[in-house]
Amino acid sequence: MTNPTKLATFPQCASFGSLDRRRFLALTATASLAAVVGSQAQAQENATRSVAPGWSAADIPSQVGRSVVITGGNGAPRIIREGTFPPPGEYSGLGYQDARALAGKGANVIIASRDETKGSEAVALIKAEHPEANIRFDRLDLADLASVKAFSDKLQNEVDRVDILINNAATAGTPDRRVNGAGLELTWATNAVGHFSLTAHLMPLLRRGENPRVVFLSSGAASRATEMEDLQTEKDYTPLKAYAISKAALLVLARDLNRRSSENGWGIHMMASHPGVCKTFLIPSGPGPDSDFGRNLLAHPERFRPTELGVLATLYAAAHPAAETGQYYGPVNDKYEVGISQDHAAFATADITSRLYDALATATGQTIG
Ligand SMILES: NC(=O)c1ccc[n+]([C@@H]2O[C@H](COP(=O)([O-])OP(=O)(O)OC[C@H]3O[C@@H](n4cnc5c(N)ncnc54)[C@H](OP(=O)(O)O)[C@@H]3O)[C@@H](O)[C@H]2O)c1
Repeated sequence: MTNPTKLATFPQCASFGSLDRRRFLALTATASLAAVVGSQAQAQENATRSVAPGWSAADIPSQVGRSVVITGGNGAPRIIREGTFPPPGEYSGLGYQDARALAGKGANVIIASRDETKGSEAVALIKAEHPEANIRFDRLDLADLASVKAFSDKLQNEVDRVDILINNAATAGTPDRRVNGAGLELTWATNAVGHFSLTAHLMPLLRRGENPRVVFLSSGAASRATEMEDLQTEKDYTPLKAYAISKAALLVLARDLNRRSSENGWGIHMMASHPGVCKTFLIPSGPGPDSDFGRNLLAHPERFRPTELGVLATLYAAAHPAAETGQYYGPVNDKYEVGISQDHAAFATADITSRLYDALATATGQTIG
């Protein structure tokens, strides 16, 4: 993936031999500008060109025999009526739609999140639609590393491999800053730390997977994060800031892990996706109406699309035979056709990437490898 902010740096001056510094700077400025304009043009083209026009969940090839873990996934559809928050319409979880599509294609699916009642309902609904579906719920609280370990240990005894891991679950924060039992800000703990820990625990199962893929859910909101210093929003908390940082972190992490995978021969394809803007429970169950997210939903409900559309980019990354390793997919036009997304974490230099990995490794006491 290209990084439009990665401009030439002065140490390259050495390779310009007899050029004086002023001329070097003028030349590199022109070259850098050309590179930026070029990469912007490329990004713009990518941001509107579908890699799979007309592709839908029905086109996913058979997933029979594939072992799939989806965090979240228990958000069965609900009809919201007039006069409440969120605005009226049908809402469902994106992970639920992942599970529904992949189980419908024959995969052995485990959905994992906190609420068992919602989990049983989601499983029942998917089984009603696909009576042959092999799907079950298991309990996982990503904000609690003991729960992540317990889930992973149990899974090691139940399956011999994982072929697809979709790191989908998330919170978009609560109106006030909250911390988990270990004192970590809750959005950061759930979205970033929890998924780092889970991926680390599942590495032995993923390594035994067949063409294994891990998909990290990012978001257009990630572009609101411009640095990776205040990871736990200690200086200035809003739900949007905390969410943006966590989602940028997952995109940066996906890229970093894909590089580590190819350099170290793990054979695991690490990808990222975002769903555009969809009607889910993320805002109602998190920051609520009196937040940047809530106000946006109330002002522009028409921009929030059905989850069946938003889920396509993730499904493409997880199950399309032509999906590219390390890629970031998202909807690229009004029809929500899948394409290569613009880079929502373009600020992440190699140094930021490596510090992010170290911060997650420290928070979890784990490494991924
Ligand atoms: N909706 C959008 O417009 C949008 C846009 C960009 C990106 N995304 C991303 O899409 C993904 C799916 O979100 P969604 O929009 O479908 O939201 P959602 O309907 O609220 O689903 C979130 C899921 O995460 C689970 N979850 C929350 N906290 C958890 C925890 N501590 N441990 C385990 N599971 C937990 C929830 O289940 P429990 O409550 O049972 O735990 C739920 O199943 C997220 O990664 C989100 O960032 C969504």
